Amino acid sequence: MDGATPHKIEVRDLTKSFGSVEALKGASLYARPGEVTAIVGDNGAGKSTLIKCLAGYHAPDSGEVLMDGEPVRFASPLAARHAGIETVYQDLALADQLTVWQNIFLNRELTRGVPPFRTSRRAEMRRQAHELVSGLAVNVPGVTKTVKRLSGGQRQAVAIARAVMWSNQFVIMDEPTAALGLRETAQVEDLIRRIVDAGTTVLIISHNFEQVMRLSQQVWVMRGGRVVNGERTSDVTGVELVAQVTGASTFA
Ligand SMILES: Nc1ncnc2c1ncn2[C@@H]1O[C@H](COP(=O)(O)OP(=O)(O)OP(=O)(O)O)[C@@H](O)[C@H]1O
Ligand SMILES: [Mg+2]
Repeated sequence: MDGATPHKIEVRDLTKSFGSVEALKGASLYARPGEVTAIVGDNGAGKSTLIKCLAGYHAPDSGEVLMDGEPVRFASPLAARHAGIETVYQDLALADQLTVWQNIFLNRELTRGVPPFRTSRRAEMRRQAHELVSGLAVNVPGVTKTVKRLSGGQRQAVAIARAVMWSNQFVIMDEPTAALGLRETAQVEDLIRRIVDAGTTVLIISHNFEQVMRLSQQVWVMRGGRVVNGERTSDVTGVELVAQVTGASTFA
């Protein structure tokens, strides 16, 4: 750790195997609070496995995870969410046939009373969803629209808004703009900047080096299940990052 503020998240020497495949061979990195931290690396480098360990989807075989300087261990995605870690995936889990507000409250419905007299607080959920979406200036036509009518960028904005709704502390994103066009990517990047300005820490996996240069303050390079380099983004160029990802450079 450098300085008095603990890292928002830190992983030390994480290992994870799937049968004979060693997806993580002792990976270490951290994310400073209030920053965008990027992870880059080739296909199969172990990026998604690492963040799935943070998100409670995988239990690491060994190694440590610290959140705000405290050791944590998540038995399930729900446990990670309770600790304030939200994750946005490329192939995001929005329910197409539900509305924007229903998606935002999916599995976390606001209710009143106790069973069998429990009632859903629909108006309140709609109100909160609208407040969230308009507060984030998300380019979404309205919270009562069905998600299947939204563009890819709007969907991703809903997924990010939902994550921020449930954790304004720490949001992990696995290639959030991989499926998006240029304009939509720019909109999602704007949204990411806004949530970071509001104090959320973001850890993002991206194959888009220009995006990493635009968005992040810190960048980690993964190769073969390890983190082989980490730098302040302002200290590297996109070309250097490409070389590090492919292993063409001499360090490591
Ligand atoms: N659930 C799983 N079962 C078996 N092997 C897995 C599983 N998840 C990942 N792997 C393997 O672990 C290695 C790392 O995969 P991972 O998905 O973490 O890579 P990645 O860096 O996210 O790649 P990409 O850029 O293609 O998304 C790969 O060899 C992959 O095949
Ligand atoms: Mg991946």
